[in-house]
Amino acid sequence: MNYRIAAIPGDGIGVDVSVEARKVLDRAAELNGFGLEWTEFDWSCERYTSTGTMMPADGVEQLAAFDGIFLGAVGFPGVPDHVSLWGLLIPLRRAFAQYVNLRPVRLLPGTTSALAGRSADELEMVIVRENSEGEYSQLGGRHNAGRPDEFVLQESVFTRVGVERIIRYAFDLARTRTGRVCSATKSNGLIHSMPFWDEVFAEIAAEYPDVHSEQCHVDALAARMVQQPDRLDVVVASNLFGDILSDLAAAVTGGLGMAPSGNINPPGEFPSMFEAVHGSAPDIAGQGIANPVAQVLAGAMMLDHLGETAAANAVRAAVERVLAEGRVATPDLGGKSTTAELGTAIADALS
Ligand code: NAI
Ligand code: MG
Repeated sequence: MNYRIAAIPGDGIGVDVSVEARKVLDRAAELNGFGLEWTEFDWSCERYTSTGTMMPADGVEQLAAFDGIFLGAVGFPGVPDHVSLWGLLIPLRRAFAQYVNLRPVRLLPGTTSALAGRSADELEMVIVRENSEGEYSQLGGRHNAGRPDEFVLQESVFTRVGVERIIRYAFDLARTRTGRVCSATKSNGLIHSMPFWDEVFAEIAAEYPDVHSEQCHVDALAARMVQQPDRLDVVVASNLFGDILSDLAAAVTGGLGMAPSGNINPPGEFPSMFEAVHGSAPDIAGQGIANPVAQVLAGAMMLDHLGETAAANAVRAAVERVLAEGRVATPDLGGKSTTAELGTAIADALS
């Protein structure tokens, strides 16, 4: 079996960590009897600087037939962030109906995180973030600019279809895990959108009597994530709440260098896209010291999505072995190793 993967390394450390992740994934594929056929696209801020666009006009069509998209990170000083985001990431997420943003959170060995003393099974959750609507909408505007009566409006959009499908995804996922879902709400403050979200959550919860469901205000949930993370498994949240909660979760479990994510099109009509949570980190780009673990774990999520579960589990186990040993570690983990040394160590731990 050969899978066709579109690789978009992008900018900054996106390039460094992609090279290492591909090294690990190719080894995992070889050991598990399948192939990954990579096609590389140079879509990036560098391309924008020379051609005026992040990707060609038919970029979406070019990617449509691939089995998966493996993205590094996009964004670089000199190109405004809204250009890199709305010129590549958002169009791909929307064109390919990647309405689930899946962010698994695990306490990995060898981290210097706030919760480092705990054992890994005390902290194992997944954040299911709505990825296509909610608070990230273009509706609204700025009025009376510069006058004393200036005001802005920023609208949220919650559709029944959008809310139902993300919540149903969370319940289906819970059935494959510990059978618990917690919904992030804020219906005491946002009196239209969140009561609607809660109502849909209750309707869907009734379809899953075997899954334990609860809801929690997002502020209290943030505190719980730090103080009692063992009480959480699947957390389902709107676009904005999910974005904030998943960065918090990444921070308390080991930092951005360890956090993977998937932009998933659950029906499989379009390719899904896998990437690290972190960005292009211009402050350390080109120094060869970025931690490749997040990108490697994003690759493991892609293998899961392709149905190559054994290879995905092997990659995660290799990461944990190398981190637990602690001999090869990048500076963010308190070590002195390079991106390539850590990538190679993980690939070698596979065989
Ligand atoms: P960032 O995630 O690139 O960096 C934040 C901090 O974390 C930096 O100090 C960086 O050195 C550190 N860091 C991140 N990943 C690391 C790794 N693998 N190993 C070691 N340290 C790591 O976020 P920032 O600085 O806000 O954004 C930089 C650029 O990336 C911007 O242009 C932004 O728009 C873009 N970005 C792109 C994303 C994407 O492609 N999905 C996501 C987030 C940001
Ligand atoms: Mg974020």
